[in-house]
Amino acid sequence: MAQGSGPAGKPNVLFLLPPGWDALSKALFGHAAFNGFLHGKDHYAPQQIDYFVGFRPPHGFLKTLPRLKAIFSLGAGVDGFLRDPEFPRHLPVVRFVDETLQREMAQYVVMHVLIVHRMQRQFDAAQKQHLWRQRMLARPSREVRVGILGLGDIGAVTARRLLMFDFQVSGWSRSRKAVDGVTSHAGPAELPRFLGGCDFLVCMLPLTSETEGILNANLLSQLPQGAWLINVGRGGHGNEADIVAALDSGRLGGAVLDVFQAEPLPADSPLWSHPKVTVTPHIAGITDPRNAAEFVVECVTRAQTGQPFRNTVDLSKGY
Ligand code: NDP
Ligand code: OXD
Repeated sequence: MAQGSGPAGKPNVLFLLPPGWDALSKALFGHAAFNGFLHGKDHYAPQQIDYFVGFRPPHGFLKTLPRLKAIFSLGAGVDGFLRDPEFPRHLPVVRFVDETLQREMAQYVVMHVLIVHRMQRQFDAAQKQHLWRQRMLARPSREVRVGILGLGDIGAVTARRLLMFDFQVSGWSRSRKAVDGVTSHAGPAELPRFLGGCDFLVCMLPLTSETEGILNANLLSQLPQGAWLINVGRGGHGNEADIVAALDSGRLGGAVLDVFQAEPLPADSPLWSHPKVTVTPHIAGITDPRNAAEFVVECVTRAQTGQPFRNTVDLSKGY
């Protein structure tokens, strides 16, 4: 691990890693292309840091790095940066766009759609009581409609995986998409029609000023009675009180929630013990440390050799 401000000539990269990301630091430190500094562990001079790597730095932190030239996000979502009121908006932000992450997100969604569709919860409950309770499927998967809010990089991979299990798949995004076999809806005007055709609603949107709180009573009331909600976007998309009310009224048949307004989810949240809710701790997509390391090395190399970055964030849109 580098100490001080590192040998001259190489760029200085500061890592502020979420807890439990030691594998990433192992994969990165000692890399020949740059001097790496781990915030909280290494001594570094803030005025000598060229690039920042992290996920959700504390608000106000980035403005303390006056020489910063670019920010590399370890997440696909960059709200953790852009919500900082003092975020240095003149800097390029590159987001982590990774096939493994996309496939894991798709896997999570397919798994939960199948668990519900195949009534596995009921079989688990029957097993606990030693009950041999055969049940028929309500309908084949080709009659079940899954709608993806946010038909972007992750949404498109998820849509294709769902099609492999014969579900009907539609998506909603800002611009119209051409994903084979998927019905594309675009913009606010087409949202009501999209919602009316969702037996499962999967939120894969980025969190922006336009999408914040989108999973509210008004939106949920436009879903078919008994639809399921799967939120793997961000907790800020959900109005948790409205979601609980929709579950209690039967508007929602159930909810699978991976992201929350407050993370970790507070111990007293009613979501933990709600009988219709599955809670997971923001693990729908898990960043592979090796891929993240490759991403950082690629970004630094591009920056140092004057090549354009890939997957830069459009700060005016917020994703
Ligand atoms: P993309 O930027 O590729 O896709 C975002 C999609 O959302 C695009 O299709 C975009 O439309 C659409 N969108 C954005 N704003 C609006 C709007 N106002 N109205 C309609 N559509 C909108 O992002 P990714 O697919 O890579 O990631 C999506 C999100 O998934 C991340 O931002 C993050 O929050 C979440 N995530 C969660 C993880 C987890 O573990 N739970 C892991 C990884 C990501 P258009 O294409 O037309 O611009
Ligand atoms: C991401 C995440 O945005 O892990 O990649 O949530």
